[in-house]
Amino acid sequence: MTHPALEPVLRPFASADAEAVSTLLGAAFGQDAEARLVHDLRGCGAFLCELVAVDPDGRIVGYVGFSRVTGAGAAHRISIACLAPVAVSPDRQKSGIGEALIRAGLKELGEQGIDLVLVLGPPSYYPRFGFDAGLARQVTAPYAGAAFQALALTPAARAALPIEGTFATPFEAFE
Ligand SMILES: CC(C)(COP(=O)(O)OP(=O)(O)OC[C@H]1O[C@@H](n2cnc3c(N)ncnc32)[C@H](O)[C@@H]1OP(=O)(O)O)[C@@H](O)C(=O)NCCC(=O)NCCS
Repeated sequence: MTHPALEPVLRPFASADAEAVSTLLGAAFGQDAEARLVHDLRGCGAFLCELVAVDPDGRIVGYVGFSRVTGAGAAHRISIACLAPVAVSPDRQKSGIGEALIRAGLKELGEQGIDLVLVLGPPSYYPRFGFDAGLARQVTAPYAGAAFQALALTPAARAALPIEGTFATPFEAFE
């Protein structure tokens, strides 16, 4: 358990955080593709929610971003978001920061009226938030398989399934 004195504060991303967030993403993923993705998503206005976790000394130790997904067909009636990326400083991982960021982000999306959230990530991690690979099988997207998971925040999301989702353009260049 994290010592209360070391508990980071969660707050919305501010433009002055951009460089620190890029550095954090590079350290967490060991490459700069995620930092580029975030830069590009921000540049095209695709983000619905970006949060940072800040240590008491002011260092940014965690980040999560959620961007808009466009639905086609029945899905045009619901609002869809994609969780990506989420990252925690390597020296601060496994102390609950990632979980706190994701829970706070999902709460914010609920308040925004988002119906469905999609994620591509470890099936051992995301089900604790309610993400489900079975639900994502009803979403036609460039992603598939056990790592592609979905979370319905409203009954309208389930009612609209199956749907087709188009991710923000910067994901096309992302490997
Ligand atoms: C994934 C990540 C955001 C989780 O944040 P965190 O603050 O370290 O995690 P939390 O403390 O909230 O949760 C810890 C749990 O996550 C699990 N976990 C952490 N990283 C994981 C991974 N890559 N795959 C599967 N499980 C993972 C831990 O095993 C632990 O599980 P337990 O609760 O069953 O013991 C963080 O480890 C990270 O930045 N990793 C590198 C970047 C990355 O892989 N991002 C996710 C891409 S989808």
